[in-house]
Amino acid sequence: MRVLVTGAAGFIGSHVVESLLDAGHDALAYDALLPAVHPEPERSRDRIPADVEFVQADVRDPDALGRALRGVDAVCHQAAMVGLGLDLDDAPHYAGCNDLGTAVLLAAMARADVPRLALASSMVVYGEGRYDCAEHGRVEPGPRVVADLAAGRFEPPCPHCGRPLTPGMVDEDARVDPRNVYAATKAAQEYLATSWARATEGAVAMLRYHNVYGPRMPRDTPYAGVAAIFRSELRAGRPPRVFEDGGQRRDFVHVRDIAAANVAALEWTGKADPGAGRAFNVGSGTPRTVGELAAALASALGGPEPVVTGQYRLGDVRHVTASNRRLREELGWQPAVSFADGLAQFVVPA
Ligand code: UD1
Repeated sequence: MRVLVTGAAGFIGSHVVESLLDAGHDALAYDALLPAVHPEPERSRDRIPADVEFVQADVRDPDALGRALRGVDAVCHQAAMVGLGLDLDDAPHYAGCNDLGTAVLLAAMARADVPRLALASSMVVYGEGRYDCAEHGRVEPGPRVVADLAAGRFEPPCPHCGRPLTPGMVDEDARVDPRNVYAATKAAQEYLATSWARATEGAVAMLRYHNVYGPRMPRDTPYAGVAAIFRSELRAGRPPRVFEDGGQRRDFVHVRDIAAANVAALEWTGKADPGAGRAFNVGSGTPRTVGELAAALASALGGPEPVVTGQYRLGDVRHVTASNRRLREELGWQPAVSFADGLAQFVVPA
């Protein structure tokens, strides 16, 4: 199949292009090379193999999309603005890139009669992860309050009795509850895409990524995730600064496993029922704490030891880890890169 990959010069998109080619598919790379994400556009452009067609254009440009979509069987939509979206001044830009961009893309796909889509979504659409109370069973704690965070009470309490909760693995049927601007734009992308699928009898797989790391991960930019931040600190001889108490749980999943999930999802869209819209969690299935990540990176890079700062970021969720069972059972995907191997490669200078 010929797949148009948006955001193809980015961290995840460039790996998706490689995985598509490895699986015997054809890719068309589409990327605006926005300066905030690509401070060195030529280097980003060079991530795309020379024999892959490259279109430098924005997903909000219907004419460029219309031309690029000719002869395309499926779209893999990775282009997006990531981060937390805490500053409301950034909200128009997030909504513009992520939601207007997706709406323009979907309209162009409908016009060009391209019926298959894999969409990069995120675990952040769930808000907090899954929690169980010994007394009240499954509960949904609200956003953490500043007074609790400031006092070092990082675990969300049971909303009924205030007792400590046990975190669990979220599945795709959990309620969508986005809690910051970025998360809201990701949830809106999913709703737009499922509406498109219903209206056009197309099929969309929505891939809810966990915390992705690996080669080409953005660093020293506002888009840097915690693994890249810790690595930069350690390379500069400074300790990684672990926020909260370091006990917050995430699922660190390797970018090559994310790319493989995209290929499996795109192949599924060719067999799915007309109008199908299905969400899939994409994570390694093994939760880690941020403290554990810091310790592993510090040890791999020969120190210094991490410092637990007690700082917190408003809008951060405490734990977000989800089951990857649907992806494994329905799409036959398996994570191939272990945490140990992935981190060992991650600390080797590129
Ligand atoms: C990340 C992604 C987001 C994605 C989500 C999916 C980034 C920047 N964000 O959000 O796009 O949708 O995963 O789950 O990649 N921390 C520290 N020290 C630091 C920086 C961060 O302890 O110096 C902590 C944070 O408080 C947080 C955790 O590390 O608890 C993860 O932070 P981050 O890498 O920014 O990712 P998420 O917020 O989980």
